[in-house]
Amino acid sequence: MACLRAISRTLAQQHSRCLAAGSLDVAAEQTLVAAGSRISAWWRPSGVRAFSVAPQDSGESISVTFKDEKDGTEQTVRVAIGKSLLEAAHENEIELEGACEGSLACSTCHVIVEDQDYYDKLPEPDDDENDMLDLAFGLTDTSRLGCQLKCQQFMHGIVVRIPSSTADSRLA
Ligand code: FES
Repeated sequence: MACLRAISRTLAQQHSRCLAAGSLDVAAEQTLVAAGSRISAWWRPSGVRAFSVAPQDSGESISVTFKDEKDGTEQTVRVAIGKSLLEAAHENEIELEGACEGSLACSTCHVIVEDQDYYDKLPEPDDDENDMLDLAFGLTDTSRLGCQLKCQQFMHGIVVRIPSSTADSRLA
């Protein structure tokens, strides 16, 4: 029993350290969560509080990866549910422009969703977003505006690319 508690504690500590360092990929995170859940269910005696290896995955935040086509850098960050990808980028000093600060007037927050499956699950862009997207640099079939995409649980693990250039529609 003491041994299992120690393993559980180690898993939880490793998970927290990786999250803090931003070095935990989605597959590794899911493995840790599954292992922690199995151990918790196995050894938990009545009255003992089960530990959770993924408190931040309880619907409060998700993992989002930004790939910057300008310099090839890639960064995975935790984003609170309800925050836009633009807000997430700015909070983490990721270079996603957002010149009009989310007022749907510039298209400089253009991002490209890498995985079609994620893209298909996103809410449809409204007419205003589509109008702005039409003016975006390097438009693709999976393009969206980062200021309009609010993070939801199903987006956990999404990867978006930031195009190598932007077009500020206000200057067109
Ligand atoms: S920040 Fe300008 S349209 Fe998104």
